[in-house]
Amino acid sequence: MTKTKVATTADVSTDKVLKASANGKSVIVAKVGDKYCAIANKCPHLGLPLAKGKFENGVITCPFHGSKFEVCTGKNVEWVESIVGIPLPGVAKKMMAMGKSPSDVASFAVTQEGEDLFIDV
Ligand code: FES
Repeated sequence: MTKTKVATTADVSTDKVLKASANGKSVIVAKVGDKYCAIANKCPHLGLPLAKGKFENGVITCPFHGSKFEVCTGKNVEWVESIVGIPLPGVAKKMMAMGKSPSDVASFAVTQEGEDLFIDV
């Protein structure tokens, strides 16, 4: 693992996520309360990017099919709920999940040194 600077504290606010790169991996950096957090910018459903999803109360919603993830833990809290924001009925959710079971997204501990934020990737 390599410690990599991903942002400064001034880059990250509590109302939106920041897309960043660390060792060639795309990540999302967020601030929840006073805590800085980072997860992979890759939805475990179909591998699509999460960064443009709605961010609210420490949770990001995948912009493609509505799966939700806690940005401080990577924990999946909802799985395949919609298509580009349009809610799906139960049977369609199963079809859209394409046989994939709910999964967490990779999370990374964020360390702060002065104004700089680092993760180990
Ligand atoms: S790609 Fe994210 S929920 Fe489908």
